[in-house]
Amino acid sequence: MKTFFDKTKLKSKTAANRFMVAPMTRVSADQEGIPSQEMEDYYVAFAAGGFGTIITEGIYTDDAFSKSYPNQPGLVNAEQVSGWKSITEKVTGYGTLMIAQLMHAGSISQALAQTKAPSVINPLGQKLPHYGGGSGPFPIPEAMNKKDIETVIGGFVNAALNAEKAGFDGVELHAANGYLLDQFITPYLNLRADEYGGSVPNRLRIITEITERLREQVSENFIVGLRISEGKVNHLKYRWEGGSETARAILVEISKMPINYLHVAAEHQGWREETRYPDGSSLSGIAKELLKVPVVANGKLDELTLAQHLLDTCQADFLAIGKAALANPDFVKKVMNHEELMPFDPTTLFPNPSLFSYEKHKKYLEKDVKMRLA
Ligand SMILES: Cc1cc2nc3c(=O)[nH]c(=O)nc-3n(C[C@H](O)[C@H](O)[C@H](O)COP(=O)(O)O)c2cc1C
Repeated sequence: MKTFFDKTKLKSKTAANRFMVAPMTRVSADQEGIPSQEMEDYYVAFAAGGFGTIITEGIYTDDAFSKSYPNQPGLVNAEQVSGWKSITEKVTGYGTLMIAQLMHAGSISQALAQTKAPSVINPLGQKLPHYGGGSGPFPIPEAMNKKDIETVIGGFVNAALNAEKAGFDGVELHAANGYLLDQFITPYLNLRADEYGGSVPNRLRIITEITERLREQVSENFIVGLRISEGKVNHLKYRWEGGSETARAILVEISKMPINYLHVAAEHQGWREETRYPDGSSLSGIAKELLKVPVVANGKLDELTLAQHLLDTCQADFLAIGKAALANPDFVKKVMNHEELMPFDPTTLFPNPSLFSYEKHKKYLEKDVKMRLA
């Protein structure tokens, strides 16, 4: 029987247990994207709190069109690498694996006045003022040409090589939650007539190319993971047309990629509501069936009976914990010692209270979530 505290392999490295910190944007780097002391304290607390693996917040990959938010950290230049290095040294000193999440915003950047995306589609939703990039609608993106796609791929490869220099154990490619790589996967956001649009293999081609190029260039032991989801931050209820059949087609394509784990995200309503199909199957369960690599499940898995059920029924190998980890950086130690967990405090969602106060903007936020759920 699998338990939360089994030592578990990720490629040739071993995680001390099955709990991971889910990637969470904190917009607390400096204006040049260099990691701050605040970030070091944030990550070290999870390592000291017993997490086997930490996946970082989304990190931007190039200076062209990838950036999502002001004060987002990058892995583009030597100063950013050196900033991350002092964090990875401390975190890995606890025996915790540290994975850098690499992220390209595509059309839902909050940092750029001009964006690029697979096709010229006006993004749903609007900017979230608490991330510091202003409010109102997103700009209408330009469609990427082949040179832009090459810039994206080169950016991911360069950022992964920088992650290795910075002492990370691996990278996770963010192809979930409505950002660029997910925009390529999603039919209504990708109307391309070239080899990057149309069929499932074509819509996944950019990810295939990134993973293949990465694998050729990073070291043998370096972990390359991938994160996918159906829902999007600006379209929370979106589900793939064709349900589990579409999931199978997408996962068959992913099974051919040289990745070392797959992370199935459920950002808003949780694993139970967002990743299951009417036929009783689940996205993470089908991934376990079709892929030979470990599967990370996510979405309100601080409900420990559900988390154990996923391990027992072969629907996950790792459990990524988001908001409950924000409330309890020592989540793993508390679970191990059967201690009570602190409830999640929504005011901690907004790392910079001078930009945005939860209490002051509560009504706005409720309206915003309603719109994203529509
Ligand atoms: C404040 C915050 C920031 C987030 N930023 C990211 C991110 O940078 N990358 C990402 O893939 N998911 C991000 N997420 C989604 C989480 O990784 C996770 O999917 C979500 O919180 C659901 O897990 P939970 O129910 O355990 O909180 C973020 C979530 C929160 C609450």
